[in-house]
Amino acid sequence: MHKNNQKPSEFRPEKTLKALEISEETSGTFSDRWSQAGIKTPIHSPIDTQLLASVSFSSDADYENVIQKSLTCFAELRRVPAPKRGEIIREFGNAVREKKQELAELISWEMGKILPEALGEVQEVIDIADFAVGLSRQLYGLSMHSERPSHRMYEQWHPLGPCAVITAFNFPMAVWAWNSCLAVVCGNPVIWKPSELTPLTAIALNSIAARIAAAHQLPSLFTLLTGTGAEIGVKLAEDARIPLVSATGSTAMGRDVGTRVAKRFGRSLLELGGNNAVIVLDDADLDLSARAIVFGAAGTAGQRCTTIRRLFVQKSVAGDFSERIARAYKQLKIGNPLEAGTLIGPLIHQRAVQAFSQAIGEAKSGGAEILVGGKQLDNLPSSNYVEPTLLRVPKTLEIMKRETFAPILYVQEIASLEEGIQLNNAVSQGLSSAVFTRSLKSAENFLAATGSDCGIANVNIGTSGAEIGGAFGGEKETGGGREAGSDSWKAYMRRQTTTINWGDSLPLAQGVRFE
Ligand code: UN1
Repeated sequence: MHKNNQKPSEFRPEKTLKALEISEETSGTFSDRWSQAGIKTPIHSPIDTQLLASVSFSSDADYENVIQKSLTCFAELRRVPAPKRGEIIREFGNAVREKKQELAELISWEMGKILPEALGEVQEVIDIADFAVGLSRQLYGLSMHSERPSHRMYEQWHPLGPCAVITAFNFPMAVWAWNSCLAVVCGNPVIWKPSELTPLTAIALNSIAARIAAAHQLPSLFTLLTGTGAEIGVKLAEDARIPLVSATGSTAMGRDVGTRVAKRFGRSLLELGGNNAVIVLDDADLDLSARAIVFGAAGTAGQRCTTIRRLFVQKSVAGDFSERIARAYKQLKIGNPLEAGTLIGPLIHQRAVQAFSQAIGEAKSGGAEILVGGKQLDNLPSSNYVEPTLLRVPKTLEIMKRETFAPILYVQEIASLEEGIQLNNAVSQGLSSAVFTRSLKSAENFLAATGSDCGIANVNIGTSGAEIGGAFGGEKETGGGREAGSDSWKAYMRRQTTTINWGDSLPLAQGVRFE
């Protein structure tokens, strides 16, 4: 594995933070202005552990203030026509375009992903903004033929109210944008609770959005609360004034949020753990498959919910194919994610490194063999860097059923597509999946109702790196939510069915006579 010789980086966090108007001591609460209250929390970069800034997390008073301001904003916003709400998002997308480089650098500093991927994440924000602008003129309801004469039936979609958006550290901007751009064109103010690990990216992006909203006389359209899930997350989940809680993170977190929200008959939109598999059949383009798998499994240091974690390869090509992946893994440059050429940055923190080591230990005692990687690196600017790891497993191990948020890929031989599909579906998560084959028949079998049980099923493309145009999310313990494209917007609105009688008599449905 190629280890990065650390040259001094041309990037400086002070410069990035200054360009985004974030000071060394910064507030983590925004209602219609920034609050100075709350306990100061130091935010360190996973790259080299240097202190980036101190953020004052939200207090109880901040919480109440944010909710009140958001409710007041909703009273105004629902009178604003949807295409005018789209105008705010159009300006937001343009403002993000202007700060694309700085926002991406901040993602790298705070979260650790490599700059090209961070730029991709900011592009995802821009893309969903564009999508939402168009959507603001397409919030269509259906009309139906009534069974009664001189009657008309149709449905229309109304705003819900303040929407809470709880996001994870690994996509600290894009996932908020998927939710918020849609929520706003649908007529809802947004309350953002970012991961406590990445408040600075949230402060930067929320500032841009709030400035634009304020110019439209909606200063509390985009509000922000920072703190832990146990404090702020629980409050949001239990708050009956918030009709929708959209949450991204672990299955354990989603189970807690989902049950609290359900208890008060709120609506939750959950995007939780993945445990994504790829099936490689013997008729696949092995070169293309290998490239897709290396990006999907090792990219973002394995910290995407869509990361490839399990690889099922048909027996006759399994040995060669594993060697091919192992060779590619050895070429991957690990190091500072802001250095040109780096492909693997650090994990988010030491707990993630421990989870990585534990998973490998457990796999080895279950009979797994390390083909490449397996170690934490000690010659880099922090101890958060690990080697992307490929493990050959004789059979499905217990550890493979759990999501370890690290670059670990388990390779297992399969006899047939049927076996691959069975193994793909044999876990509790159901986010993303893929098959690599040149056979139309195999591809269609994988996509059929008897095939992959995941929310995303791809052919000759890895499991990660989805475009915003499709609905994003998964089944089973992934939570069932769908965000971003297609008709995901419906989660952010309430449906109203209307029947109008324009005649002079009162026929009852189902032919009922009440005379
Ligand atoms: C996530 O990891 O939570 O499909 C989101 C992808 C990205 C989004 C990932 N567009 O990999």
